Amino acid sequence: MIKLKVEHLSKTFENAGRTIEAISDVSLEIRQSEFVMIVGPSGCGKTTLINIIGGLETASSGSVLLDGKPVAGPGADRGMVFQGYSLFPWLTVQKNVEFGLKMKRVPAAQRAETARRYIELVGLQGFEQALPKQLSGGMKQRVAIARTLANEPEVLLMDEPFGALDAQTRVVMQELLADISRRTGTTILFITHDIDEAVLLGNRIYVMSRRPGRIRDLVNVDLPEPRNHHSLVLPEFLAIKSRIMEMLWQESQDAAMDR
Ligand SMILES: Nc1ncnc2c1ncn2[C@@H]1O[C@H](COP(=O)(O)OP(=O)(O)OP(=O)(O)O)[C@@H](O)[C@H]1O
Ligand SMILES: [Mg+2]
Repeated sequence: MIKLKVEHLSKTFENAGRTIEAISDVSLEIRQSEFVMIVGPSGCGKTTLINIIGGLETASSGSVLLDGKPVAGPGADRGMVFQGYSLFPWLTVQKNVEFGLKMKRVPAAQRAETARRYIELVGLQGFEQALPKQLSGGMKQRVAIARTLANEPEVLLMDEPFGALDAQTRVVMQELLADISRRTGTTILFITHDIDEAVLLGNRIYVMSRRPGRIRDLVNVDLPEPRNHHSLVLPEFLAIKSRIMEMLWQESQDAAMDR
């Protein structure tokens, strides 16, 4: 079953008399419970694409369909997690996770119970009353993930969510997210320019070209489960990784020729 469908999406920015074509004719599909990655060279329009899907940006042409229905504007059906932690600094972990539920007027007891479940899912039990400033980067991103999941979105949209974390914390968070995906069956669209991350997490990987970003290729990832840091050295892992590296290397060579 196709959960999210993007059809012929293009976006051109007009800025101070200058026209920038960010993405061009992007089409993609994500099935229910699938974990789909997008990789592409820096500046190729990845954030533009996910912002259009999330409704934070409007397309110049094309459409986004959720369960076959066109979406316009932001909605609780699409939960977003960004690179910056975007927590409310004055609210505790518990209150941050409850925030969306409070907006939806979910009764306090039910809110607390749902928040408890998601705080536990991301391994932050014991930190309910902490403030964001008392947490490490990895912990803050766990709160951001719990807060988004607590709203039970149809699709989770993630734009380089682990980009600001150190290498070890990043691997821990990748394993956590892989585990959450397996346990909850949440449909996830995840953007990264870390190829290891893409191959470790994705069921399928869309590879974008340089700007204006188009879909250059679609790579299926078939690795033994559960995937974790041990997967990073498997021959099948390395084969997929080198195939994608080659494509991105070619894109950067071509970009250099364009200049
Ligand atoms: N609001 C905007 N106004 C004008 N130009 C924009 C705007 N947002 C993005 N762009 C341009 O669109 C292009 C694509 O940007 P975008 O941020 O989507 O790329 P990206 O692939 O996410 O880059 P990165 O890998 O650095 O995160 C860039 O040339 C950028 O300058
Ligand atoms: Mg970006």
